Amino acid sequence: MARGVIVRPMTDRAFDIVVFGATGFTGRLVADYLAAHAPAKTKWALAGRNEKTLEGIRNELVAAKPQCAPSGVVVASVSDAPSLTAMARSTQVVLTTVGPYAEHGEPVVRACVDAGTDYVDITGEPEFVEKIIDTYDSEARQKKIRIVSCCGFDSIPHDLGALFTAQHLPADAPMSISGYVKSNGTFSGGTWQSAVRAMGNMRAFQKEQAARKKKRGANGQTRKVAASKAGIRYVRELHSWACPLPTIDPQIVLRSARDLDVYGPDFRYGHFARIKHVTTLVGGAVGVGVLFSLAQLPPTRALLLKVKKSGDGPSPEQRAKAFFNVTFIGEGGGRRVVTEVTGGDPGYTETSKMIAEAALTFALDRDKIPARYGVLTPAVAMGDVLRERLQKAGIGFRVVREEAMASERSN
Ligand SMILES: NC(=O)c1ccc[n+]([C@@H]2O[C@H](COP(=O)([O-])OP(=O)(O)OC[C@H]3O[C@@H](n4cnc5c(N)ncnc54)[C@H](OP(=O)(O)O)[C@@H]3O)[C@@H](O)[C@H]2O)c1
Repeated sequence: MARGVIVRPMTDRAFDIVVFGATGFTGRLVADYLAAHAPAKTKWALAGRNEKTLEGIRNELVAAKPQCAPSGVVVASVSDAPSLTAMARSTQVVLTTVGPYAEHGEPVVRACVDAGTDYVDITGEPEFVEKIIDTYDSEARQKKIRIVSCCGFDSIPHDLGALFTAQHLPADAPMSISGYVKSNGTFSGGTWQSAVRAMGNMRAFQKEQAARKKKRGANGQTRKVAASKAGIRYVRELHSWACPLPTIDPQIVLRSARDLDVYGPDFRYGHFARIKHVTTLVGGAVGVGVLFSLAQLPPTRALLLKVKKSGDGPSPEQRAKAFFNVTFIGEGGGRRVVTEVTGGDPGYTETSKMIAEAALTFALDRDKIPARYGVLTPAVAMGDVLRERLQKAGIGFRVVREEAMASERSN
């Protein structure tokens, strides 16, 4: 066994789920969600580096008499590898909200792979995700564990929404799907810190990614899978402008399509922000351009990092007003389908729900999910089982319309 770690069988473990990062903004929301919504039999713990704060949160949750208060506290720090190993060995699933992941993520994955423990996170950082695939996929497959990143708004609605859309088209013909994202959500200090760092590393990452693509090659892949080439355009059907969104989401959708037959023999995916007015489109593009430029130089990057502090986040009132809607238009095999995925505040209320339900899927639905292992996407690891959980928890997945079409691949 790697590094002399003895892997305990899942049944011997003290907890079903450990929430690492429970003292942070999103981690605390995850803890609130599990306490209120996990089945009473679920054994779960709060984890982080500050024992006193963790005990305080646990006391609050116990006093509030929620359905399922945490049964323990685990003290662990990213800079203390044995503490991470002990944490990973105490549970079936590690759920981590400790970011930025490019900085703090890898030791947690290492500990889970060593301990034979399933893992979920809410990163949206492509650099981190690619490194984890390169380093841990083969060992995680051998050990039959699942390492699943991007279990928040990045990228569950898009990944499961594209899967849901593909399931409504013939799987034996070329297929193209476009996702159009509309939202008014704001973000936390932790997200700001991760985004500024990711923008600063973007150029280096793009170079590495090109080399990685060459090295991986077709890798035995028979299905053609690629990003659609559409640029900014007006989509009459949605009464909106569509602007390509350079988030991690299309990469996750395309990874799922490489692994699952339901996406057909030739699959294209495009991912867009849906914007009502051309002035918002121009303003947004200028804002992102300025931010990107400032993130490239260490002094201006340091200033940007001071704008929003770790631990801060939108208030309950702000979150209550926030929403998201992702509309998917799919075409293939002479059929056309329009679907949508909807919910409330994407970044925090719904993200904490999504990752909590993903962890519950691994902890409680092991006999229902496919026997797939390694570094996986949410759709590949949990697919319909997670979608059904999310639907019960209030996230909408619905078919808007289905019809026969005259010509293929026009979106
Ligand atoms: N994909 C999505 O849709 C989405 C949505 C929301 C957030 N996120 C991501 O989730 C991450 C967390 O965001 P947030 O707003 O919750 O951040 P946050 O409030 O700053 O929380 C960060 C957490 O990490 C912990 N931490 C930091 N360094 C640590 C270390 N060395 N060892 C152990 N724990 C450590 C902090 O513990 P202390 O309290 O001890 O400092 C805190 O619990 C960010 O990367 C963000 O981008 C993604």
